[in-house]
Amino acid sequence: MKTNGDALLKTTELLGNALRDFLNQSQAAEGKVLVQKESNALANELQLSHWLKHGLADTTQVQQLLQVYTDNAQHLHHPHYMGHQCAVPNLGAFIADAVNGLVNNPMAIYEMGPAAAVMEKVVINWMLSKLSWLKSDSIEETRNHKTGGGGVLTHGGSMANLTALSAARAKVVPDAWTEGTPDNLVVLCPEVAHYSVSRAISILGLGSKAAIPIKVTDKEVMDPDYLEPALKQIKAEGKQVMAVVANACATSTGLYDPLEETGLFCQQYDLWYHVDGAHGAAALISGKHQALMKGAQLADSMIWDAHKMLRTSALCAAVLFKDHLDMLNTFRQKGSYLFFEKEDVGIDAIENAIECTKSSLGTKLFWSLAIEGEQAMVDYVDSRYDITTVFFEHIQTTEDFECPYEPESNILCFKYLAPGTNDSFQLAIRNELVKHGDFYITTTIMNGVRYLRVSVQNPDTSLEHFEKMLIAIREVALDLKK
Ligand SMILES: Cc1ncc(COP(=O)(O)O)c(C=O)c1O
Repeated sequence: MKTNGDALLKTTELLGNALRDFLNQSQAAEGKVLVQKESNALANELQLSHWLKHGLADTTQVQQLLQVYTDNAQHLHHPHYMGHQCAVPNLGAFIADAVNGLVNNPMAIYEMGPAAAVMEKVVINWMLSKLSWLKSDSIEETRNHKTGGGGVLTHGGSMANLTALSAARAKVVPDAWTEGTPDNLVVLCPEVAHYSVSRAISILGLGSKAAIPIKVTDKEVMDPDYLEPALKQIKAEGKQVMAVVANACATSTGLYDPLEETGLFCQQYDLWYHVDGAHGAAALISGKHQALMKGAQLADSMIWDAHKMLRTSALCAAVLFKDHLDMLNTFRQKGSYLFFEKEDVGIDAIENAIECTKSSLGTKLFWSLAIEGEQAMVDYVDSRYDITTVFFEHIQTTEDFECPYEPESNILCFKYLAPGTNDSFQLAIRNELVKHGDFYITTTIMNGVRYLRVSVQNPDTSLEHFEKMLIAIREVALDLKK
């Protein structure tokens, strides 16, 4: 099929019909959440090699392919989807992706997408305002008169963590950009920090051993009492702290580190404080759960994935800085402040991002927020956090399930308790459940013990769905024991 206006119109109509059915069925909890076929068989069923070679002749063939594709997709819109922390995108995200798919404005330099560039800055300012880091409404961060925070959208939280830690290195050792990373730098982070943190530390040339794990409590939350002794030890060994990282919230449990205590510690010792808010920074917009983020304002940098709790499709992550000058200096050697003071580079994101070609990420978050307005997003976050507590309370009423902690966010770990159900049995339950395809959940290890885990992302998942899942787990467990 050729790309022209007529074909676009026909395809849009076809796409609308196909995706409407996919969405309606998923939302009505009809059919499976996931059907996993063997990969060779699936590639054959999709006729991938054939289409690749011969092309799709008309919209009927597009429709055929689309049908097989959606049949074999993970159904995030199905309320039985309670798996990974991926957003269930709203209509706004769909509009953004459809527009990006055709308009394609990689706006790292302003002239490659002025409207998209402006949208990115507006959503960055919206995020900064939630941290009280927005000191001026100006969207032009690189101008002299701009004060306060800055930020840039990146292709994912891992990239955002790397960007933030690069900024920390630039601040602590400005010459590292030209001279290389000194061998005495370390980063303090909770034992359960996301792996992208230690990966960033290695990429930055510190070596993974430079990630100094701070002990966690029995809830796997960073214990701030261990920060001071760790710092003393580090100094005694002649090492220098590049950054202190806290989780908001932890990937496995959804529990928040003591952000304020950690921030005050960093303030006292003048250390770069980075908050990994990939998932849980969404609590900043909540009226009810905002207290979980108390102290994040003390950070020098924070990351926040819109593709987790702000209903954008993957990927759309923000790295935010309390002082925009720290951002401007991230990929520069010492003295770059002067460079920026002299030159007006407009609002080109390219100066501050790892990526060269950068997708119009801001359009995703902008449309996701704008499609129903900010309050709808607030309600969404509140409802998912609240329903997860309802699931926890329900588990307290059962005799055969237990939770290791009370949830703070929309992530909950729990365990099937029938006699003889050890760690590998929990894993077998999950695998069997996913194989049946009626529910999608994950598992995790907490304190060395295997748990089943849900991340309640879908706006329609209710207690009824959760109860049905517990019933399905009991059935699966019975079958496994036969
Ligand atoms: C706490 C935390 N940080 C960082 C990341 C990495 O984000 P991304 O998957 O967008 O690279 C994740 C992903 O789950 C996370 O949970």
